[in-house]
Amino acid sequence: VKLIEAVEDAALRMREAGLVFGHGTADAFDEAVWLVLWACELPLDELDAVAEQPLSQTQHQAVEALLHRRIQSRQPLAYLTAEAWLQGLPFHIDARSIVPRSLIAEVLADGLIDHWLERSLGHAPRRVLDLCTGNGSLAVLAALAWPEAEVHGSDIDPAALEVARLNVQRHTPRVHLHRANGLAGLAGTDAAGRFDLILCNPPYVNSASMAELPPEYRAEPALALAGGADGMDFIRPLIAALPEALVPGGALVLEIGHERAHFEAAFPHAQAIWLPCSAGDDQVLMLPGDPTRVAEKDASARRR
Ligand SMILES: C[S@@+](CC[C@H](N)C(=O)[O-])C[C@H]1O[C@@H](n2cnc3c(N)ncnc32)[C@H](O)[C@@H]1O
Repeated sequence: VKLIEAVEDAALRMREAGLVFGHGTADAFDEAVWLVLWACELPLDELDAVAEQPLSQTQHQAVEALLHRRIQSRQPLAYLTAEAWLQGLPFHIDARSIVPRSLIAEVLADGLIDHWLERSLGHAPRRVLDLCTGNGSLAVLAALAWPEAEVHGSDIDPAALEVARLNVQRHTPRVHLHRANGLAGLAGTDAAGRFDLILCNPPYVNSASMAELPPEYRAEPALALAGGADGMDFIRPLIAALPEALVPGGALVLEIGHERAHFEAAFPHAQAIWLPCSAGDDQVLMLPGDPTRVAEKDASARRR
């Protein structure tokens, strides 16, 4: 069989088996491309170049074995390959942490955060926290995006931090990792003090949604997903602590997935700036520590 035929066959069988996607791929075809190329030990971004190539018997067996594991185990493919890609970077991953896929990586890459901070702070962020760093992917991407910045990553879960440590070792020594419960847990560590920018992809799935999660999501640590009745349990104290956690002009960039209604009900006065990304315009938001600052700066720029 040709490689593309193996991809189409794998996609069909995954669809028929009722698998759920969303851990780095959006549908059965994309997942099949990844699965087949990975099993055949081919570069993951070069389908066109190899699509018509016949599979060797070894490759065919490897594809069948991985496809079988994916269907039987209902584990995210990234756990089976121990690798996930985000913004062009490979990250080690296993069941100790959720699969890297945060939408914050997109807004980080497309310069939206830089644009905003340039206006509110007047410079690139110098001190950055990836709160709830888990696998460490956002902290690593932040350290690479802002080479001059001091970057901290923190998480409550020591097992997830072991995964973060592997990714930090692999990509950049500039991320400082801390085990800490929320923002408050950072007091007394070298991550204490104010930040220019806090990135946070917290556990935000509400209890009703948690009860209905498909197996691929149940394979991930519940601690990484469950956000309480309305999904806001972690976010409430975070937002309350923001004025002390950010420098003037600093900002929080927060992912909340499909929880916008819950967010707005919990924080009716929050002046959220919604940042558009591939999954929609209301899954990632920015909260300025001091929302009046940008408006004042704009006004003073106009006066000059
Ligand atoms: C949705 S995952 C995000 C992981 C990673 N930042 C990413 O985007 O792929 C949420 C993380 O929050 C951590 N977490 C849950 N409760 C926490 C708490 N009270 N304090 C710090 N981290 C917490 C979990 O261990 C998990 O790693």
